[in-house]
Amino acid sequence: MKNQRPYIICHMTTSVDGKVTGDFLSRPDTQDAIDEYYRINRDLRCDGYICGRVTMEGSFTGGYYPDLTEFNGVEVPDGDFIAEKNGFYAVAFDRRGRLGWQCGKIEDSDPGYDSAHIIEVLNTADKRYLAYLRSIGVSYIFAGKDGELDVEYALLKLKELFGIEKLLLEGGSIINGAFLQANCVDELSLVVAPVTADEDGMPLFSDGTSKTFSLKKAEHLGKNILHLQYDLC
Ligand SMILES: NC(=O)c1ccc[n+]([C@@H]2O[C@H](COP(=O)([O-])OP(=O)(O)OC[C@H]3O[C@@H](n4cnc5c(N)ncnc54)[C@H](OP(=O)(O)O)[C@@H]3O)[C@@H](O)[C@H]2O)c1
Repeated sequence: MKNQRPYIICHMTTSVDGKVTGDFLSRPDTQDAIDEYYRINRDLRCDGYICGRVTMEGSFTGGYYPDLTEFNGVEVPDGDFIAEKNGFYAVAFDRRGRLGWQCGKIEDSDPGYDSAHIIEVLNTADKRYLAYLRSIGVSYIFAGKDGELDVEYALLKLKELFGIEKLLLEGGSIINGAFLQANCVDELSLVVAPVTADEDGMPLFSDGTSKTFSLKKAEHLGKNILHLQYDLC
């Protein structure tokens, strides 16, 4: 199964105590590490990036949700929808279709994210939401049943339908944990900021499971920042 799905690199900024969420990310002492994180994101040259619903909302959609009433009663064909294949993708794991995209591409000033074609990975969704996604050119695929997304099946589909070979998994903690549980993390790329997290910080993998990794590279990037790369054993 492993080579039938995209290769997954979990790329994250962490505190020295292994947390990935919270106010520490916006502290001045973390900013150089964040800059390195974005530089390395581009250097890893993947076909796109995956984020959980919460991260996509915080980084891109800002909590917007469209008025779906204009799609009342609209017929939508069953199954997946491919709006386009452009070779660079923003893949949103959004079980119930809650993300309010406004067009089919990411519009962001950072070249590591900009112009990525959006693919929604859904478990279940309002038909009107699907009609809305079609109207703005967002692709979507379904994976899993009974409210739970099947991570591995979603990845198999991403490779089969879009030809995606390699993706960054860029958080947050909950989606990273779901990928680890599903045995779908092949590599870690951790930019360690020289700070501890706040008390509400979440770990690299929420509800994770114990795995063993081998260190392939440890680099001091200056300014007390480490870049650690591990392969799954
Ligand atoms: N340090 C870093 O490098 C970095 C990078 C990215 C983000 N972040 C931080 O991470 C924080 C958000 O992380 P988070 O852990 O709260 O949320 P998240 O992982 O971004 O999103 C979690 C959500 O994804 C959806 N989901 C889709 N498939 C799922 C599955 N198989 N299992 C479980 N949930 C699934 C669920 O939303 P539904 O309940 O709606 O289905 C779930 O609540 C932000 O504060 C952001 O700043 C940090």
